[in-house]
Amino acid sequence: MQSISTRADLRGFVSSHRRAGRTVGFVPTMGALHHGHMALVERCRAENDVTIVSIFVNPTQFGPNEDFDAYPRRIDHDLELCRSHGVDAVFHPGMQEMYPEPLRTVVEVAELSSILIGEQRPGHFRGVATVVAKLLNIVEPDRAYFGEKDFQQLAVVRRMAFDLSMRATIVGVPTVREADGLAASSRNLRLTPAERRVAPVVHQAMLDAKRLFETGERDAATLLSAVRARAASEPSIALLSCDLCDSATLGALRRVADGPAVLLVTARLGSVVLIDQFELKPDLATGGPAA
Ligand code: PAF
Repeated sequence: MQSISTRADLRGFVSSHRRAGRTVGFVPTMGALHHGHMALVERCRAENDVTIVSIFVNPTQFGPNEDFDAYPRRIDHDLELCRSHGVDAVFHPGMQEMYPEPLRTVVEVAELSSILIGEQRPGHFRGVATVVAKLLNIVEPDRAYFGEKDFQQLAVVRRMAFDLSMRATIVGVPTVREADGLAASSRNLRLTPAERRVAPVVHQAMLDAKRLFETGERDAATLLSAVRARAASEPSIALLSCDLCDSATLGALRRVADGPAVLLVTARLGSVVLIDQFELKPDLATGGPAA
């Protein structure tokens, strides 16, 4: 496995594989890698000849009071995990390599960036879209892999790649969960043992809504109040947002009709913001219309 820290070396690595006619897949990350990331790597390896992972904790997607400094950094562990999972190259540029000068150009995906999490974290998705655009321009992969856990991020990146006619196909990979249902995330490392014990309540709250949905409930307010009620049973969890949206447009739904809907939840536990998502497909419901 190659460990690469400059754009020039990464471009050289990619060109040599392209000349040999190989396809290139890319998994962008901020490091602190875990089995959720490895699911992206596995999918990438299955669909491409060459797999590149990037590790860069991107400052422009963190707000002034967010956890940029506290974000876990474990480069030796990350390199080892990538090596043992058959990654061909890890690109881990320093700050100067990614942002040699203050940016004058940013990527803003209108509407999708300002709703939901974008409302709580103004500028967050501008930072994500801009760094992902930079990374996709450097790597120029055939396919790039993103977790469905960050459902809105995936929607923003998909739209950006479409609008800017980018070469890469954006591939969404289903959320990986711990045995107790907690969505795998680098931020879970920052939960105290006591917080880690109660964290699965977020997923359980979403399962309550899913169970109601399976019995035929379609009213968004009723489904969302099931989530709120369970989350409220755990005093250390503060539900920051809980939305039922159209999976494609992320527009708020009053009822789940025929198309797939997504339940999006953010919750604060201590100093950590947990994000989770769950698609509700009409064919999941007993007696509901088949998809
Ligand atoms: O999901 C992440 O880890 C980051 O938002 C990403 C896509 C690597 C951009 O910094």
